[in-house]
Amino acid sequence: MTTPLAAPVVHIDDARFKVTEWRFATGAETGWHVHGHDYVIVPLTDGVLGLEEPGGIRREAPLTQGVPYSRRVGVSHNVINATGAPMAFLEVEVVDDAAAHRRHDVLLRFVAAWNARDVDGLMACMAADCAFHSSAGPDAQGTRHQGREAVRASYAAMFDTFPQAAWTADSHHVAGDTGVSEWRFTGTDKAGKSVDVQGCDIFRFEGDLIALKDSYRKARS
Ligand code: NI
Repeated sequence: MTTPLAAPVVHIDDARFKVTEWRFATGAETGWHVHGHDYVIVPLTDGVLGLEEPGGIRREAPLTQGVPYSRRVGVSHNVINATGAPMAFLEVEVVDDAAAHRRHDVLLRFVAAWNARDVDGLMACMAADCAFHSSAGPDAQGTRHQGREAVRASYAAMFDTFPQAAWTADSHHVAGDTGVSEWRFTGTDKAGKSVDVQGCDIFRFEGDLIALKDSYRKARS
């Protein structure tokens, strides 16, 4: 006798979310699958999940109607209805990871352009309407450079001020419309003074491009 398969009913399938209702007859299973996205499960019934996991692991987990749980991309398993009665849950997948990957790539190109002293490359990462808030300056935000021409001029001035400069030990993270890049800046200015500090940028994205670069640097004493 073959095991019945759980029946998926797709309620939402757009650029950001996929919402699938999974209906399990008694004993039904999803079959083995790997989750390609972060997801939330919202049980529509009470029940017991039988879970087959890599390495021959077999375990059970309770489902409580209306009590959600979340999992990250990459989960691999077969899900079986071990309830002894029909059960169902909603699976809510965040499917716009692709946008996060594109934004992450922009942050990698951005730091590479800094290290290449490539102002055009930097501006190619910036949105049409963009701003740069530098670490130092008279305002609570540092110094605010608003608009492409002001941002370009401030980036060019940075290369002018530091004939030698490098951004190393960098790491980049994207969450929603916000990005963070950590780095260590080492440079020598025109007067021959050396700087070696850690810092970070907090970015605001517009589409795939940077609408705001908000910079922070350690102040050594
Ligand atoms: Ni699953």
